Amino acid sequence: MTSAPHPTPLTADDDWWRSAVVYQVYVRSFADSNSDGVGDLEGIRQRLPYLRDLGVDALWLTPFYTSPQIDAGYDVADYRDVDPLFGNLGDFDAMITDAHALGLRIIVDLVPNHTSSAHPWFTAALAAGPGSPERERYLFAEGKGEQGELPPNDWESIFGGPAWTRVPDGQWYLHLFDPAQPDLNWRHPEVRVEFEDVLRFWLDRGVDGFRIDVAHGMIKAEGLPDVGFNSMTTGQRQSELLGKGRLPYFDQDEVHDIYRAWRPILDSYPGGRMAVAEAWAETPQRLARYIGPDELHQAFSFDFLDATWSADSFRKVIDTALAESTIVGAPTTWVLSNHDRQRHVTRYGDGEVGLRRARAAALLMLSLPGCAYVYQGEELGLPEVLDLPDELRQDPAFLRTGESRDGCRVPIPWSGELAPYGFGPEGSELSWLPAPATWRALSVAAQAGVAGSTLELYRAALRIRHEHPALAGTDGITWLETEPGVLAFRRTAGGAELTCVVNISGAEVTVAGHGRPVVASADLTERGDGHVLPVDAAAWFERR
Ligand code: GLC
Repeated sequence: MTSAPHPTPLTADDDWWRSAVVYQVYVRSFADSNSDGVGDLEGIRQRLPYLRDLGVDALWLTPFYTSPQIDAGYDVADYRDVDPLFGNLGDFDAMITDAHALGLRIIVDLVPNHTSSAHPWFTAALAAGPGSPERERYLFAEGKGEQGELPPNDWESIFGGPAWTRVPDGQWYLHLFDPAQPDLNWRHPEVRVEFEDVLRFWLDRGVDGFRIDVAHGMIKAEGLPDVGFNSMTTGQRQSELLGKGRLPYFDQDEVHDIYRAWRPILDSYPGGRMAVAEAWAETPQRLARYIGPDELHQAFSFDFLDATWSADSFRKVIDTALAESTIVGAPTTWVLSNHDRQRHVTRYGDGEVGLRRARAAALLMLSLPGCAYVYQGEELGLPEVLDLPDELRQDPAFLRTGESRDGCRVPIPWSGELAPYGFGPEGSELSWLPAPATWRALSVAAQAGVAGSTLELYRAALRIRHEHPALAGTDGITWLETEPGVLAFRRTAGGAELTCVVNISGAEVTVAGHGRPVVASADLTERGDGHVLPVDAAAWFERR
């Protein structure tokens, strides 16, 4: 095993994740250090001071492991190495050393539900043939129909089409995502031992946590029973049940045994090594089962991301999330955007309206108790790029469903007059997806130090979040009486009060009696004893 270069944690604060702001680095689109048009680990290392100055606590890095990159690295061929596209293990060590020196923790993505079809286990399984022990690490099965020409059941890939692919010897294998991502058989002891070792490999290298990809998917119902419908039979996609209904390949009770085995491993390392589940379950109660002192530390709550731009919708998801977190004794996670979903500027209406709302949503999210996840570029107010030419789109789901996640993955604009806006070193013109001309005005350099810019709004909010006594701790919120369409809640601690007011009412409102404004997503004007909060804006008021 590789020696442990950075076994020492950042600080002894085991609970850092409870109120952290985690910045999601989509590695291939963050910063390119070698002019190949793809972001890399050295690019991240060079930009760490930017992230420290932004005021985040930790970074979550999407997969940078050896991979054919069919699903942008979520198809892993070697879990213990870095893909040459992103650098090497030495670059990882240098990056994490510098991050820790700057006070930034590092969370890496773990992809346990499936490997790449280029993983040595899968190539061995193909070579060894039906009935071999090598095939038992995956989910191979005989087909239905006279010649086995039909898939073993009606399961559908999340990326569209059947979840089964037939191999030349006649057997079929399961892939809940792309055919290049065969699902592992988590009832096989070797699979469990392997991943426990992978966890230790990265913990020994100093990582502070893991984001668990498809954390609800590893165990499939015994006998692989049919769902009963799919796009072919009823036109309804099975994935429409995500977060709403039960599927035989998701959220099976036995998946929790896996996490109960992982938790002692995380706990055996000092410094609060954590894990956050990307999990979907039928109800918030079932999602809460992933969290707890003997399982994972957090699960993403996508209800906040899915809330529509309305006070009722936000209030409902906030109340549900906070109630659940009280029951499980773990903080809620708040997410507005990630690499799989349309950016929230665009979801909220795009253009000027979308940006105004996105800025207000940022103040809402960052004043709530718990852990917030910021997706790279949201601090710049980046919108979804909707008009990427089809031939440039790389999302494997695009070919199968016509839906593509590329528009939220366009490389970050850092500086300069011409695309790709400083994504690579000086003079480098390549970027794996093109940035639109409008992004010149959204670059980091164009916004840094500019009063009222989205970047400065995030910086101010993050600074206050860290320093303000009322925002310390994970106590709940108190809702305040308001006119319809306005959200107002207060956090109180250490003799201080901070009130967040979000105006979704469609008309300006006057806010009074909550103290002085400390940050606002749009200009406030004084009126009488209070302040006018414009439409689609939010502000924080404080009293000490
Ligand atoms: C998760 C990832 C997504 C990926 C999928 C398959 O949902 O966030 O990007 O395509 O898993 O690994």
